[in-house]
Amino acid sequence: MATRALVTGGCGFIGSNFVRHLLREEPDVLVTNLDLLTYAGNLHNLEDLVDSPRYRFVQGDVRDPSLAAELVTDADWVVNFAAESHVDRSLGEKAGAFVDTNVYGVWCLLEALRVADRGARFLQVGTDEVYGSLPSGGASESTLPVPSSPYAASKAGADQLALAFWRTHGCDVIVSRCTNNYGPYQYPEKLVPLFITNALDGEPLPLYDGGGQVRDWLRVEDHCRALLLLLRQGSSGEIYNVGACQDPEWTNRALTELILRCTGASEDLIQPVAGLRPGHDERYAVDTTKIRGLGWTPERPLEQGVADTVTWYAEHRDWWEPLKSGEYRAFYEQHYGAALRARR
Ligand code: TYD
Repeated sequence: MATRALVTGGCGFIGSNFVRHLLREEPDVLVTNLDLLTYAGNLHNLEDLVDSPRYRFVQGDVRDPSLAAELVTDADWVVNFAAESHVDRSLGEKAGAFVDTNVYGVWCLLEALRVADRGARFLQVGTDEVYGSLPSGGASESTLPVPSSPYAASKAGADQLALAFWRTHGCDVIVSRCTNNYGPYQYPEKLVPLFITNALDGEPLPLYDGGGQVRDWLRVEDHCRALLLLLRQGSSGEIYNVGACQDPEWTNRALTELILRCTGASEDLIQPVAGLRPGHDERYAVDTTKIRGLGWTPERPLEQGVADTVTWYAEHRDWWEPLKSGEYRAFYEQHYGAALRARR
């Protein structure tokens, strides 16, 4: 019997990579992709799949309880990527949208699953940002979440809600918490695609707060493999950290210099800026012993992964150039405009 997977937010960066991975790795799976197509969701991310008999796209909102109820009725797996995910956008008046989609949207899915009562597995795709900034060491799954940004707080709320449905209603729930992803199809608002595309265009790279911050960068393909493993083998009611555990760790500055080397652009493009991210977390790191115990391990070193990603963006201008107009330009000007002009 075919496995039926409902993937929400499947037109976004990680979601679209996961849909493709799932269809490739699970020959019997049938995928329904529920996506609202907000600014970060893009039908082009999966345009190669539109004719696949194993793939169906539904435009809609995870915050629509009747749609959630309809779509979970025959699902075996529900994988929730639908989220507002950009920390900078969560710092202003838009924070309400983060609570709405990231928390209420999760409740809509969970409630639909509870009522359907078919034993479907729910995988809540989360983030290591819920742990907040760690001066040293790595957060384990039992580390108390201390989220800094409204974005991270909303994701922590989603995790708790999902686990509450496991405890209270016996729903089959797993929570993953992954470190920063990079790779193809990432909307150019996050550090890696923003800096790659700006470098390719000779535009400034706005490096926040000295660039000494540490993130644990993971290739999106490695993350997708981890998620499928959790669907197949994860234990219900458990949290699993996912991360590359880069050793030595990479500062934003070092990553920026790597991107510049890969694009062949000058370091003069780096523009130090300050004050654009209040509450900026200095360092994220996770302990991934638990998922490694299931046999998962990341596959490619960061230098290679970033070089490949630069090649992908260099070869896919037709994908990202149209994105850097309209809504994007308005956000860019509002967020970076004054800071970048002040430095000239
Ligand atoms: P980002 O890609 O937004 O991911 P997250 O905030 O979820 O970690 O940011 C990664 C790091 O890069 C973070 O320390 C902030 C920094 N950053 C910049 O220095 N400049 C930028 O323009 C952006 C978007 C991020």
